Amino acid sequence: MQPAIGKPSFFRNILVRLLLFGVFIIVVRFAYIVTITGESCNRGDFCFFSLPENLNLVIANAGPSVSAIFGSDAVSRSNNPRLDLYTSKDWIKAVNYYSSVFQDLISQGYLSPNSKSLCVETPSGQEVFALKEIGVKNSIGIFKKASKPLVISGEGHRIPFANNTFDFIFSGGARLDKSAWPSEFAFEITRTLKPEGFLVAHVKAKDKYSFNSFLDFFDSCELVKMRHIDGFDSSLPYIREIVMKKKGEIPEHGDNNPGGDSDNECTVPEHKRDLIRNAEPLITEEPLKPWITLKRNIQNIKYLPSMVDISFRSRYVYVDVGARSYGSSIGSWFRKQYPKQNRTFGIYAIEADRTFHEEYALKKKVTLLPYAAWIRNETLSFEVNSDPTHPGLEDVKDKGRGMGRIQPKMSTGYVVDGEVDEIQGFDFAEWLKNTVTEKDFVVMKMDVEGTEFDLIPRLFETGAICLIDEIFLECHYNRWQRCCPGQRSTKYEKTYGQCLDLFTSLRESGVLVHQWW
Ligand SMILES: *[C@@H]1O[C@H](CO)[C@@H](O)[C@H](O)[C@H]1NC(C)=O
Ligand SMILES: *[C@@H]1O[C@H](CO)[C@@H](O)[C@H](O)[C@H]1NC(C)=O
Ligand SMILES: *[C@@H]1O[C@H](CO)[C@@H](O)[C@H](O)[C@H]1NC(C)=O
Repeated sequence: MQPAIGKPSFFRNILVRLLLFGVFIIVVRFAYIVTITGESCNRGDFCFFSLPENLNLVIANAGPSVSAIFGSDAVSRSNNPRLDLYTSKDWIKAVNYYSSVFQDLISQGYLSPNSKSLCVETPSGQEVFALKEIGVKNSIGIFKKASKPLVISGEGHRIPFANNTFDFIFSGGARLDKSAWPSEFAFEITRTLKPEGFLVAHVKAKDKYSFNSFLDFFDSCELVKMRHIDGFDSSLPYIREIVMKKKGEIPEHGDNNPGGDSDNECTVPEHKRDLIRNAEPLITEEPLKPWITLKRNIQNIKYLPSMVDISFRSRYVYVDVGARSYGSSIGSWFRKQYPKQNRTFGIYAIEADRTFHEEYALKKKVTLLPYAAWIRNETLSFEVNSDPTHPGLEDVKDKGRGMGRIQPKMSTGYVVDGEVDEIQGFDFAEWLKNTVTEKDFVVMKMDVEGTEFDLIPRLFETGAICLIDEIFLECHYNRWQRCCPGQRSTKYEKTYGQCLDLFTSLRESGVLVHQWW
């Protein structure tokens, strides 16, 4: 603790610290100018003389007005609680780091002394201090807790300024990576930036995948420049500096998708295709013991979040189509095994079979859609027994899985042998398009008793396929049976070859699909 105000030792202490601080700044700035920029001191703004001017003021007053260090800013002169902070080594180190970052940006033309500037989520204002120090006087920071005069109260996802306010916005320290609301954060930055204004962000975005997700967040900005730089401490040894420029005014009711048809087309970008090249190979030979081979294959699966950084998505969503009981895949596999990089996933369970509905009422974090995923809204007949034509012959699957073929109600020639229920089918592809966006991270498991041969083509036809990042698909075919060697299941007509074709075409179209068992 500091001694009580008024004791002479206190002011001596302040003076000594200030002098040390001044000397430190002078030395560092001199070293910087001479060694790094190699310039002589001919541009007043960047010379070390600008800071000592402030320091002189402080020393001349030799009183409690240390806050005059901030030059002309409105500052409360009656207290100086931040003195310790502003003279700490880490603080000075950070200020110097950001000064050199901003000087580079000035020399490249993204920032000027006249830029109205905002530093987003800067806990103690080093960035703002650095901006002012190099002559960008009209600058301010925001953080949850204000730290006046440099930092006022505000958060990245709720920036307390009007639209089109700033020429320059800076987000340092990988704080966009850490935000719990990164898409709102991005939206707020874009909103408060003037058209043609510059955003500079320091983010981790470890790979091409997350870098592209980042760019998608700022869809009304264009990428100007990206480079790798050293972060300012050991927790961020390596960081991307991304410079983006907000596009000029977009017409009020501008439609980015003229024509309408383009709605259903989507192209898979290269960074997503890269994932497929790294994914586990498909099983090309029909397995003789599919109940073993396919189940074991789960060990080989290269999960998307184990290959790339899934940061910078608005939401994280898991859709279980044909969810059966909670424990059959959501509880046993998705919750426990799917790597989530610490994200919280919203979960949708799509399951038409009433026997399973009750337990979902108790699962608060799972949204149940008690319908059958189908290609249009219509009533369907739903088979409750596992194999009406050969009861008991179908290999025994895990409890709570492996039944429930659906058929359009009107279809003729459907043998109603087992118990049949009427259920509501819905247009799954439309639902998906209304529920998630391209900015969301979407994982899907689909186990729909043969209906995949209807649903997957429909996902392509509607363009909904592009909303899905990763699919775990069980393909149903006339597999060899466990009970009776040499006999194939008669439940499904498709062959293993047709299933392999489905998987292959999905991967060729850029969809990261895995063989589910
Ligand atoms: C500010 O911009 C946002 C989106 O950019 C817009 O939705 C909002 O209506 C604008 N507010 C005003 C007051 O113009
Ligand atoms: C998840 O969080 C834990 C503890 O908060 C941390 O140790 C771990 O590194 C995080 N994992 C990832 C992938 O971010
Ligand atoms: C299908 O049903 C859903 C939910 O009731 C509804 O929102 C959607 O508009 C319907 N689609 C069609 C094509 O009728």
